Amino acid sequence: MDFNDKVVLITGGSRGLGRAMSRGFAEAGAKVIVASRKLEACESLVNEIRAAGGEAVAIAAHTGDIESLDHLVEASYQAFGRVDILVNNAGINVAMGALSDLTPAQYDKMYEVNQRGPWYLASRLAPKMAEHGGGCVINMLSVAGVKPPAYMGFYAATKAAMQAMTKVMAQEWAPMGIRVNALAPGTYHSDLTDGAIAAIPGFEEGALSQQLIKRIAEPEEILNPIFYLASESFTTGITLVADGGMTTL
Ligand SMILES: NC(=O)c1ccc[n+]([C@@H]2O[C@H](COP(=O)([O-])OP(=O)(O)OC[C@H]3O[C@@H](n4cnc5c(N)ncnc54)[C@H](OP(=O)(O)O)[C@@H]3O)[C@@H](O)[C@H]2O)c1
Repeated sequence: MDFNDKVVLITGGSRGLGRAMSRGFAEAGAKVIVASRKLEACESLVNEIRAAGGEAVAIAAHTGDIESLDHLVEASYQAFGRVDILVNNAGINVAMGALSDLTPAQYDKMYEVNQRGPWYLASRLAPKMAEHGGGCVINMLSVAGVKPPAYMGFYAATKAAMQAMTKVMAQEWAPMGIRVNALAPGTYHSDLTDGAIAAIPGFEEGALSQQLIKRIAEPEEILNPIFYLASESFTTGITLVADGGMTTL
């Protein structure tokens, strides 16, 4: 894959799938903007990328905070003068449990980070991308948004909302030369997944029992699907599922 001269902004770029993507895009020649709440974690990864000969900058940003996202846009343009590819990757799942036990505060938190932030960031960047002839937005969903499981109601709902939003963005921004797609991963090793495996008895067995491919994927396995969506030229508005066959069953 060759992303030379492309600027890629990855929210939640410091850990998990975001880390794999930050490294992967940098190795493929892109200039990478690594954004997450903790600047130190972003800087540490940026140092690794630079040591390997890549180009990257670290910017602190909280996707649940509108002012922080405005700063992210401004600082990204100060760093590289453009953004060609936005990966709306930062996401949380802090509200596991029965719907009757969940609270309005948990609902607001989940929507602010998983849905409002990705909408806002992409919406601020799209007109700027258009000024440079277009671009590409990839929204990270989850199989939970496509095949919603019990006790993950808010997570599933925020991801399903982003699937709808992806289709709306694709329609509104195609005339501006911007393709918008979604990627729905199944179960990949990351802090999010490994935390759930450690905290919830039977989580791993439960996930594997629902997959055709009986293993949890490595974070680097996200690169082929993300590179496909970032590089091809005639696909927009789709959700690409990479889930070991979970949604087939
Ligand atoms: N791993 C999987 O199996 C899997 C499956 C389906 C979908 N996904 C989706 O893939 C994306 C990445 O998941 P992951 O498993 O890699 O997660 P992860 O290991 O928990 O990493 C999350 C990343 O997002 C950042 N982050 C968290 N909250 C943030 C916020 N409010 N603002 C900005 N950055 C924030 C974290 O850094 P800081 O702490 O520094 O902010 C970190 O870099 C998420 O959207 C998730 O829903 C993952």
